[in-house]
Amino acid sequence: MSLWGGRFSTPSAAEFKEFNDSLSFDYVLAPFDIQASQAWAAALHQAQLLTAEENQQLQQALSELARAVAADPKLPLRADDEDIHSWVESQLIDKIGATAKKLHTGRSRNDLVATDLRLFCKQLAQQLITANLAAINALLGFAESYRDALLPGYTHLQRAQPIVAGHWALAYVQMLQRDVSRLRDAVKRMDVCPLGSGALAGTTAPLDRESLAHDLGFRLASENSLDAVSDRDFALDLLNAASNGMLHLSRLAEDVIFYCSGESGCFAMSDRISSGSSLMPQKKNPDLFELLRGKTGRVMGHQHALQVTLKGLPMAYNKDMQEDKSGLFDALLTYQQCLQMLAFAMPEISVNQQHAATQAALGYSNATELADYLVSKSLPFRDAHHITGEIVLMAQQQGLSLDQLSLAQFKSVSDLIEEDVYPFLEINYGLNKRSALGGTAPKAVQLGLKHAQDWLHAA
Ligand code: ARG
Repeated sequence: MSLWGGRFSTPSAAEFKEFNDSLSFDYVLAPFDIQASQAWAAALHQAQLLTAEENQQLQQALSELARAVAADPKLPLRADDEDIHSWVESQLIDKIGATAKKLHTGRSRNDLVATDLRLFCKQLAQQLITANLAAINALLGFAESYRDALLPGYTHLQRAQPIVAGHWALAYVQMLQRDVSRLRDAVKRMDVCPLGSGALAGTTAPLDRESLAHDLGFRLASENSLDAVSDRDFALDLLNAASNGMLHLSRLAEDVIFYCSGESGCFAMSDRISSGSSLMPQKKNPDLFELLRGKTGRVMGHQHALQVTLKGLPMAYNKDMQEDKSGLFDALLTYQQCLQMLAFAMPEISVNQQHAATQAALGYSNATELADYLVSKSLPFRDAHHITGEIVLMAQQQGLSLDQLSLAQFKSVSDLIEEDVYPFLEINYGLNKRSALGGTAPKAVQLGLKHAQDWLHAA
């Protein structure tokens, strides 16, 4: 049944109806539409626009509908209604007849859809926070297991300085903590109820919009009806947070893919999360992490799509806004699934500790320590840097690492260098020295781990 047939003399063309209808994707809003309708009926009763009996009838029919949808979330898909709001109303009319037709008094689908979508976003945001916390927990598990395991650290994808795997994992914990805070910020701003804004100009029903907002679990009622029905910032905020979160998952995935590659070999994936090649029998591919990286493009695309959809729309509601939903739903569910997969996959990743320790020592990654040694002999850092560069070049030409150079070879470049240089060149020396807050020294990493664990317990 259509909600608006009266002023039309011919029915919609089937082609147009198919193009116009949104039930095929907005059916997921059913529980929220029912919740909003229950609060609306109660508010109409308080405003004396519904009798106690009518309100009672509506509440009961809406509760029955909520149970039916909970048992079968795809129930609305069996109908032919225009959208989820029409479906709920036609179901009510089927159940209780005339009283159901009073429910839409003073409200519009424009304030209703904005309300439903905010309720949906609030719920999803909480689920995304929970999924982030589980992913953080998995990263902390990895950081704890491999807290002191050496790993080559890179800049420009060139070996730079040794780090420990715990430090690497805690870097991603920091990112995911910021993602949680972005989601919490988004929740704060979306916690405003548009219901009671009418189509655009406000409702004629003399109701207390603040208590209606509180009934629906919102902190505030919206303060401008035009803004309330045309605003989709809350969805964009969430999409922005999701894009940022996926960006982090993608970088993490790229690191894991690289450390698992034949070229690095510092990490290994379990067979449980790897796949093979149909042609090359030797292959073991990191598909799970490639999908985390790949799905990032999809989520970012949805974020951009909504921005472009909203850009330049006039006040107030426009049908363009119906296009806010499928991308939003897909982006949020994809982000949630990726977080869940990360939490699942981290325990399946191990560090090849011996190999990684050997790799961490390669590539003159202790050259900075040699420069620091020269600084300790009172050479200005810039000169120490230059001399160390010359020594690296000499060692490279002879196919030696720095600690394999003889004292005579060192002295051929700088006579400031003595026998006491060798301890400076040991890998643990450089590592342990980076013990200031935030450094990769195992002591600092242990503290970082503790901070993150405390944060998680309090979250
Ligand atoms: N299906 C519509 C949407 O998702 C609901 C609002 C329709 N409002 C209207 N005035 N046509 O945006």
